[in-house]
Amino acid sequence: MPVESRLFVKASLLWLCATFALGAILLILKALGLPPHINFSNVHAHMGFVGWLVNLVMGIALWFLPVNREKFPENRGRYPAMTVRVIFTMLNAGLVLRVIFEPLADKVGPALLYSATLVTSALLQLAAVIVFAAIAWVRVRQV
Ligand code: HEM
Repeated sequence: MPVESRLFVKASLLWLCATFALGAILLILKALGLPPHINFSNVHAHMGFVGWLVNLVMGIALWFLPVNREKFPENRGRYPAMTVRVIFTMLNAGLVLRVIFEPLADKVGPALLYSATLVTSALLQLAAVIVFAAIAWVRVRQV
């Protein structure tokens, strides 16, 4: 299994544990009638769907999709390794920024720092997915 796929899959497992931990806390607080003053539902959902699911899908897809040696001759036809590491960093850094700053922004209201950070988070994650899709696109073909 290539090192980049291991990176995505191990990150996905960490996000899965974090999603379940936050989910359990939210459920326990709900059961005790102690709703948190900050809304963590969005964060919990994105930790699960982006952190766990998207990291897992990307890691496995980069490993399993048919190789394309004409497009990526440098890495046994898989992908440009440095680009994939940048994708990993953009996706996960973007998600970490969202996890930290979205609840703060919801609580405090509009502020330049939060707005700038959330815009950065959105653009990082979007860029990660577009570059991933471009790599995956040329590997989805008849073999
Ligand atoms: C990968 C696993 C999971 C995913 C993808 C996931 C996803 C979601 C989503 C989409 C929501 C709705 C968020 C919203 O209202 O906007 C939600 C809410 C919630 N989840 Fe999860 N969830 C996961 C695991 C868990 C687990 C294991 C627990 C409990 C042990 C849990 C507890 C909760 C609770 C309590 C809410 C409601 C929070 C509230 O009252 O607003 N989740 N989850």
